Amino acid sequence: MKGIVFTELLAMAEDMLGEEVVDAVIEAANLPSGGAYTGVGDYPCAELMTLIQGFSRTTSVAENELQRIFGHWMMKSFERHYPGFFRSNQDALTMLESIENEVHVEVRKLYPNAELPTFDTVREAPNELLMTYTSPRELSPFCGGLIEGTLAHFGTEGTITARDRSTPGTTRTDFRITVAESR
Ligand code: HEM
Repeated sequence: MKGIVFTELLAMAEDMLGEEVVDAVIEAANLPSGGAYTGVGDYPCAELMTLIQGFSRTTSVAENELQRIFGHWMMKSFERHYPGFFRSNQDALTMLESIENEVHVEVRKLYPNAELPTFDTVREAPNELLMTYTSPRELSPFCGGLIEGTLAHFGTEGTITARDRSTPGTTRTDFRITVAESR
C-alpha cells in the first residue's frame, strides 16, 4: 500500500488521540517498518490492519467503525491532493461511477504498483447506483467511508446499504447508494 494511506491514518489518529498515544500504539505493534512511513514509500497492507487493530483496542471503537471514519478522512485528503478528479464530476453518483475507469486508472499511472480494488457499477435508477467492491484486502468499511465522504463532498443526502458477498481470500461487497435527487 502507498505510504500516503499510512501517513494519513497516523495523522487521523494523532488528531483523535494525540501523539503520545499514537507512538505507544506504534511501539506495541512491533511493525516490520518500525512505523516510520513516507508518502512515497510502499508498505504491506498487513501493517495498516495491525495499526487499525491497535487504535481499536486503545479507543474501544470497533475496527470497522475506525475504517469507516478513516474513509471520510481519506476523502478529505483526496480533495486536497487531487482536486482535478472532483472538478470533472458534477455529482456524487457520476463520481463514484468514474472511480474504476477514470480516477483509479490515473492513480495507477502515478503509482504503477498501487494496490487498488475493482469496482463494478450498475445504474439501477437515475438516483440509485449499485457499486460492487472486490479486493483481496479487507477494506470494505473503509470503502463505505469513502462512499459516504463522496456524498458529503457534493452535499448530497442519501442512503448507503452494504451487503457482504465475500468468499475466502476475496472481499466483495455490494454497496447500494440511493440519493435524494438525481441531478
Ligand atoms: C479523488 C478520488 C480518489 C483518489 C485520488 C484515490 C486514490 C487512491 C489511492 C492512492 C489508493 C491507495 C493505493 C495503494 O495504497 O496502493 C486508493 C485505494 C483505495 N481506493 Fe481510491 N481514490 C479515490 C476515490 C475513491 C473512492 C470514491 C472510493 C470508493 C468508492 C475509493 C476506494 C478505494 C479503496 C477501497 C482503496 C483501498 C484498496 C483496496 O481496498 O483494495 N477510492 N485510492
